[in-house]
Amino acid sequence: MCGIVAYVGPRPAQQILIDGLRRLEYRGYDSAGLATVDGGRSQVVRAVGKLDNLVEALARDPVAGSLGVGHTRWATHGRPSEENAHPHAVDGVIVVHNGIIENHLDLRHELQQRGRVFKSETDTEIFGHLIAIELQGGAADLESAVRQALARVQGAYAIAVISERHPGQIAVAKLASPLLIGLGAGESLVASDIPAILPTTRSIVFLEEGELALVEAGRARITTLAGQPVERPARHIDWTPALAEKGGFKHFMHKEIVEQPRALIDTLRGRISRAEGQVFLDGLDVAGLSQAQRLVIIACGTSYHAGLVGKYLIETLTRLPVDVELASEYRYRDPIVLPGDAAIAISQSGETADTLAAMRELRRRGGRLMAICNVVDSAVAREAGDSLGVLYTHAGPEIGVASTKAFTTQILCLHLIALAIGRARDTLDLAAVRSEVHALSRLPKLVEAILEDEKEIEAIAHTYHKAHNFLFLGRGHGFPIALEGALKLKEISYIHAEGYAAGEMKHGPIALIDESLPVVCIATQGAGYDKLVSNIEEVRARDGRIIAIASDGDSRIAGLANEVIFLPASPPRLEPILATVPLQLLAYHIADFRGTDVDQPRNLAKSVTVE
Ligand code: AGP
Repeated sequence: MCGIVAYVGPRPAQQILIDGLRRLEYRGYDSAGLATVDGGRSQVVRAVGKLDNLVEALARDPVAGSLGVGHTRWATHGRPSEENAHPHAVDGVIVVHNGIIENHLDLRHELQQRGRVFKSETDTEIFGHLIAIELQGGAADLESAVRQALARVQGAYAIAVISERHPGQIAVAKLASPLLIGLGAGESLVASDIPAILPTTRSIVFLEEGELALVEAGRARITTLAGQPVERPARHIDWTPALAEKGGFKHFMHKEIVEQPRALIDTLRGRISRAEGQVFLDGLDVAGLSQAQRLVIIACGTSYHAGLVGKYLIETLTRLPVDVELASEYRYRDPIVLPGDAAIAISQSGETADTLAAMRELRRRGGRLMAICNVVDSAVAREAGDSLGVLYTHAGPEIGVASTKAFTTQILCLHLIALAIGRARDTLDLAAVRSEVHALSRLPKLVEAILEDEKEIEAIAHTYHKAHNFLFLGRGHGFPIALEGALKLKEISYIHAEGYAAGEMKHGPIALIDESLPVVCIATQGAGYDKLVSNIEEVRARDGRIIAIASDGDSRIAGLANEVIFLPASPPRLEPILATVPLQLLAYHIADFRGTDVDQPRNLAKSVTVE
């Protein structure tokens, strides 16, 4: 996600901001910029691509002053471009922002009606206009202008604001996006993460939800959004820079697993209304998808597994037939594209060569398609953008090669698409959508509850980390989760693991079972439960070691399995996402016990841009 750095103090801001942004590069970004205020005059410099491009632009056009804000942008609204890069300057007010403003379309429209002219496609620029209006309308100071502007905004934000008329001040605020203040000797830094401030200070004040602060050199005054003073002493942080980058986690993969509640919230944000039971999928031609006679899902690896879950969701909720295709096969198979077909390409990176080639093949044959993607304006997003559109997973950058939060947010997007199509095709009435939407809104909390059981999962990982082979079994929507669990384990631990449809076990893999084989069974209530219990009995009869993922309090499974990981009670359709999380943790801890390179496993790349 985006990175924010701001500085106020006696030193020139430019180099401090660049150094801070470099320390946030691990968060992923597609453009960068910084701005300073000096003698009542602001200067803004921005560049698309890597920070080196910004450094080059600054070499041509350096900025002066010891008050400034910097930003690395991971695009969510508007493609990566110089105009969309932050900071955004409006009438001498300069803003950087991390997060998503849900009501940005309404606010933009209202501001345009009032004669305001926008220079970017971003939701962030709205802050600049709102704050400038408050200052022009007589707000007492920068802090109160920001406070009043924030009252208009719904969504998630971490912002830092400076102004030509307020020397020596940075106004910052946080709601559902991280922000912290570093207090040094006569100088202060603001950042979205700890690494950015470590060279200057280790004395940190973390802003909490719904707080605003006025930051000056060496001090900060914190209040709630309602204006109540907040007293919070600074904490001393003794992390190394490498540990700080990973938020204190040993590996990015672990951090990304734990980030899933947040990623799910961000993916849902602005897309569901619990009250009305509605789904809003901006940027997607839902009518075009709904009129299809058949959907074809195209993807690779983990994204393909999400597609398999999508088949269950879409067919069940919409009665529209869905075929799921491996992109690497589809592109060479002389595929049949019927006039009534529509396709969904799924890709975290948006750069996977096979997925792109399959999309182009489908379009060449007259097919229409949409994409589910995590990277704005990536090749996959562009390929679908002028067809049926793009639905972005707002998972934030995924750095670990093993895909985790991208997978669960892809499934969530497919669920939202199924609801939108079901409504359009009238296979779901308003009450049904309302109940699904209500269930989806509980997902982040349910995932949090599973993460709380991590210690038990780690203990199971320790017991089995020396195994040479694993079998993963599932039925129904548990089958793709078995495939995904096996893929996760094999790619990071180098243990041979196979995912199988449990009903197929007797057609071959049953020959593998003996006391040395751990068999992971997705045995939740919704996934062909009774049949799976029989499969577990079959494994038990051959002395296989059973690790079961079961629904909360299932004593029948507990009596059969060697180890049980319980999922919290949930509607069955949430089980694929919920059952995934313990499998990610199991794979992670097994790999960690084996000492492999978890984030960059051998022979693998994060984006497979070649065949
Ligand atoms: C998953 O852990 C892998 N890294 C891999 O299978 C990945 O999902 C696949 O290469 C597809 O990538 P994409 O989603 O970026 O297109």
